[in-house]
Amino acid sequence: MSDNPYSTAVLAWYEAHARDLPWRHPDASPWSVLVSEIMLQQTPVVRVLPAWKAWTERWPTPADLAKEPSGEAVRMWNRLGYPRRALRLHACAKAITEEHGGQVPDDHATLLSLPGVGAYTAAAVASFAFGQRHAILDTNVRRVLARAESGIEYPPKTQTKAETALAESLLPPEPSVAARWGVAVMELGALVCTARNPACADCPIAGQCAWKLAGKPPYDGPPRRGQTYAGTDRQVRGRLLAVLRDAVGPVPKTALDAVWDDHIQRERALDALVVDGLVDPLDDGRYALPS
Ligand code: ADE
Repeated sequence: MSDNPYSTAVLAWYEAHARDLPWRHPDASPWSVLVSEIMLQQTPVVRVLPAWKAWTERWPTPADLAKEPSGEAVRMWNRLGYPRRALRLHACAKAITEEHGGQVPDDHATLLSLPGVGAYTAAAVASFAFGQRHAILDTNVRRVLARAESGIEYPPKTQTKAETALAESLLPPEPSVAARWGVAVMELGALVCTARNPACADCPIAGQCAWKLAGKPPYDGPPRRGQTYAGTDRQVRGRLLAVLRDAVGPVPKTALDAVWDDHIQRERALDALVVDGLVDPLDDGRYALPS
């Protein structure tokens, strides 16, 4: 088995151009890497940086977080969005503390058994925190491989087995090199091979890229919809949760009613927060973050 045709160029590019992100430092703990991966899944790096710092300073180990009510995790999540991730991290902290002696497990199967940890997160933590050899496929990596190998501008909407097989076939044999390759391709997708206006002139593998060599044929698949936020239930849920985060204790229903005019949409959003376990309705009619 030898290294793939891109690895030398991509690894050299990473060495010279990678951002200095704290969860990539050699002394970043496995727990801080897990926190970063959950935060980065749906939130851009610039917004994750301060949140990750605050979170890992307050709860440097899983046991520190496990001691707290889950509502504190929701409060600290602040405005990162998709706040169910805060509950998942809290549940992970509890499982790691109670079932794994307080240490983030270092094997893929055990990582996968943690609450809310999927294939991507398990592979990312095993690779970035423990230097193991796993295919890492996030949206950035999928786009780089779609272009370089498959000659198409964007990957399919949902991940296919063929993409996983391709990523596995490209993994360098040496685990520590494979781990570095994973983060390097991710960074290439984030900084150069971007979704719109990729900077092919700066790309270390432009000369080998199937999409570039084919003259960059435009995407002709189904429409790729960006995420809307304004006016959505997600926005209403964000406003409702902000009231609870900013309050010291439980709040009356009137405080929640003030954040959104449309009564039907507001009630639907509140119900969804309760169903998700992000908000507790109290017997006295007030609402609180979960305990
Ligand atoms: N470095 C390690 N994992 C990352 C991620 N998911 N996004 C951006 N940079 C990362």
